[in-house]
Amino acid sequence: MLLNKEVGERSMKKAKIVLNKDYTIGKIEENVWGSFIEHMGRAIYTGIYEPEHELSDEQGFRKDVMELVKELDVPLIRYPGGNFVSGYDWKDGIGPKEKRKHIADLAWRQIESNEVGLHEFYDWSKKVNSNVMQTVNLGTGTPKEAGEMVEYCNFKEGTYWSDLRAKNGKKEPFNFEYWCLGNEMDGPWQICALTADEYGRKATEAAKIMKWVDPSIKLIAAGSSAPFLPTYPEWDRIILEHLYDHVDYLSLHRYYEYGEDKNLNNFLASFVDLDRFIKTLVSTVNYVKAKKRSNKQVYLSLDEWNVWHTKQDEVAEDRWKIGARRVENNFDFIDSIVLAGLICTIINNADFVKMASLAQLVNVIAPILTEPNGKAIRQTTYYPYKLARYYAKGMALNVSDHVPNIMTKYGKTPLVQSAATYDNETNEVSLFLVNIDTEEDIETTINMQGFNQARIEEFILLDHENKNSKNTFKDDGVVKPRNVKVERKMSDEWTITLPKLSFSTLTFKLENDTKKGV
Ligand code: AHR
Repeated sequence: MLLNKEVGERSMKKAKIVLNKDYTIGKIEENVWGSFIEHMGRAIYTGIYEPEHELSDEQGFRKDVMELVKELDVPLIRYPGGNFVSGYDWKDGIGPKEKRKHIADLAWRQIESNEVGLHEFYDWSKKVNSNVMQTVNLGTGTPKEAGEMVEYCNFKEGTYWSDLRAKNGKKEPFNFEYWCLGNEMDGPWQICALTADEYGRKATEAAKIMKWVDPSIKLIAAGSSAPFLPTYPEWDRIILEHLYDHVDYLSLHRYYEYGEDKNLNNFLASFVDLDRFIKTLVSTVNYVKAKKRSNKQVYLSLDEWNVWHTKQDEVAEDRWKIGARRVENNFDFIDSIVLAGLICTIINNADFVKMASLAQLVNVIAPILTEPNGKAIRQTTYYPYKLARYYAKGMALNVSDHVPNIMTKYGKTPLVQSAATYDNETNEVSLFLVNIDTEEDIETTINMQGFNQARIEEFILLDHENKNSKNTFKDDGVVKPRNVKVERKMSDEWTITLPKLSFSTLTFKLENDTKKGV
């Protein structure tokens, strides 16, 4: 804290943000606001599906959960795993329910009843206005089975698998567009983990078959599960040397935890690490592109990202049950601030990150928590995700910022993490500002040069006096955003206060007839 000696008052830390509509990074694809539901813990059973619940519909899906998912307007949901998929046979989840097998799922040491399978999950996704990103099993599964799954789902008619789909109640193809080639095959924890060359070969053969069956599908290669693995980033280079011509995206996964060091600033600085991880993989993709003399661009799919407190895990309990509790983190206010920082990083990498999935959506490290036979609530992390989905539209802008820094384990870290978008259809700018300073507010000047006059439409603030506050089943309204009153006059520069530890979403409406430039 600085002291203004002349007047003897404390002077606030200051930051400056400059936006220019011509300085763009890339288009925000709506699929970057996707999510993920795995057959893990209570994501499905007593999460989205609970026939005994008084609020369930005729298919057994909880309507209260559907409402919370719909409110998030999730465009794409990755399914059915996760580690689960590497031991999963998709054929166990089709056909008459009463004939479906109960299976020991070795990934999460739980029993899978297969009551919800491919058709049921598709029906649910339509009820919540979303699409499904499928994942094929490249652990115990084979390229042949992956091809059969595409045939079952997307082939029109006249083959064994497509006709079986019709017999099972779905005459028209599902036409799933996005397909992940396995999950985290670099992780020693994965069922039938592979070396990079093994995965590269297996995934190439699966990709060939899958695209022969349906050339319109988009494929995602299973990239590095985390930068702490010794194989990172060689894994990505090697698999891409096999797969570059066959895939459209490289996936990456990243979770952040309030670590052993108990250093809050390090946790709050997670966005710096995510940015580095993304940029390393962009370089790796482009290295292979150059090596192959290719004109094709492979993009990134950050198809698992979140905050995850592994110490809250309950993997050791409730083994071998259907719907056993797994990693039901009850997130606090700090977690929502960390998530907001990561959201800004996703926006700031819009030129390469074209898909992303917040992992996960219900009960498992999720923004939505349910109780069996009870309520469904919005966690603290629900809100930054919802704000991003609603307001980050159009082109990501290259924010020029002048902000104070602190030192964290990642080195020099800005105290204000920022991102901005410009939607030329609605003529609106959205600005996202995260103040990670745990002690002080920061006075921030926003200059919108190149936009000419605008007015602030909304200033939505997520802050809280108690950093460890949580939303619970007893009180689910403890942490939620609030609207800040703003003067709605036209200007091109504003000064606002970013409270310590806060996430601000500002929207600006530009005047049509006063637009500068092209
Ligand atoms: O999202 C939980 C788990 O995290 C997924 O199953 C796995 O892919 C990752 O390790």
